[in-house]
Amino acid sequence: MPPAHRTVPRPVFHFTPRRNWMNDPNGLVHHRGLWHLYFQYNPEGPDWGNMSWGHATSPDLEHWTEHAVALSHRAGEQIYSGSIVAARDGEGPLTAYYTSAYDDGHQAQSRAVSHDGGFTWTPAPENPVLDRGSRAFRDPKVIRYDAEGAARWIMLAVEADDRQVLLYASRDLRSWEFQSSFGPLGGAGVVWECPDLVRLPLDGHPDDERWVLLLSTNEVGDDTRGEGSSMHYVVGHFDGVAFTPERPRPTRLDHGRDFYAGVTFDNAPGDEAVMLGWMGNWRYADAFPSTPWRGAMSLPRRLSLRTVDGVPRLVQQPPGFVRDRLARATRSTFPGGPDRPGITLSGHSLLELCWDPAATGALRLSLHGDTDARVDLQHDSGSLRLTRSGPAAEAVHPGFPSTSTVPLPDATPARLLLVLDGPLLEVFVGDGEATVSNLVLLGGGPVTAAVRTERAAPVTAAVADVAPATP
Ligand code: FRU
Repeated sequence: MPPAHRTVPRPVFHFTPRRNWMNDPNGLVHHRGLWHLYFQYNPEGPDWGNMSWGHATSPDLEHWTEHAVALSHRAGEQIYSGSIVAARDGEGPLTAYYTSAYDDGHQAQSRAVSHDGGFTWTPAPENPVLDRGSRAFRDPKVIRYDAEGAARWIMLAVEADDRQVLLYASRDLRSWEFQSSFGPLGGAGVVWECPDLVRLPLDGHPDDERWVLLLSTNEVGDDTRGEGSSMHYVVGHFDGVAFTPERPRPTRLDHGRDFYAGVTFDNAPGDEAVMLGWMGNWRYADAFPSTPWRGAMSLPRRLSLRTVDGVPRLVQQPPGFVRDRLARATRSTFPGGPDRPGITLSGHSLLELCWDPAATGALRLSLHGDTDARVDLQHDSGSLRLTRSGPAAEAVHPGFPSTSTVPLPDATPARLLLVLDGPLLEVFVGDGEATVSNLVLLGGGPVTAAVRTERAAPVTAAVADVAPATP
């Protein structure tokens, strides 16, 4: 068996820590021209533990530089997930809120401040600053809420086991007053984690806004038939005090198995909503055979809200550098059919396919590299199915082989963008009305994409290798 670092190449245009364990993105903020990414990190090993905030920055959301650990665990206290807000004049300090997870099992919110643009942090001497004596009160996300010219800060944090989000308000980022709670709703048997609340215009109309509550839900227990970790969203209204949903049910945010703890950047230029998630699943994250790193971030995704079939739908689009590369990609049109030669990808690649399902019938796409794991996509009327299978997938964990199903509107023509970066596969459907994100095990060499259609009719493919195959 080849060493794991050969079979699991390191992603090239997604963030991974140089070494050791990583989970949730934390403290996402744009400040003085830099995108800051902090992350749940074990500075001392490849498994979850000693939770601290690692730190990386990027000028462009494509190239990341890792820095020293920003907030370190210490005796009796781990630093769990949280967020950062920037003063809007770019002058004031950065303020972080995170969960202090104490060794006695209790969880409360703490504050830290940075006066050097996010590189060094000082925890407040009076920490924790928000404490309910709870064992599952965590993941503070602070957002800015402007009403009648007065800035107010809103903190969302979960009571994870109760499936509730609690909202607090502050005018000075120091003292917090309870406003309201939201939940439970949707399926039981999960904990709620890492909430966020994002203001978005519906169909681009600035005077028709909605608020979208993002929720990470993780199944309790070890049933390998379940999906483990996933994200949902709820579209509604927010008046500065309470969140009111438009519909009783949360909607699935990403249909794959490996997109979790996604939250948005504070203070993004142009007020854009840019979300980043952890590409992992608590069910098997500790068994993924990558080394010396374990854990990767998704692409940063631009969020918008569009009416689809009469309902506001969250749309996720890849970042500018991906769209730029696609615009310059090699494009060719070939007749589909059952026997097409495969397209060779370096494995750090973008592949966009466009076709007319009314002419081609069902389309299948299979990806394979130099391992015995494979990925198959099947696009048929009404659904897209993505299956991850093969001995190498089975060897990770009994819950790793999977089929993800995306219900599809009957779009003609159809369009799929596959973003493959070593072990990370993100599929954007149409304009981003649906996404499917999965860890894959296609090896370190080139990857062949075989496209087959039921009937011979034109399929257009745009291919761009972002980097060569991993040697
Ligand atoms: C979500 C989560 C958070 C917690 C952190 C601990 O993945 O469980 O609720 O703060 O990870 O690492």
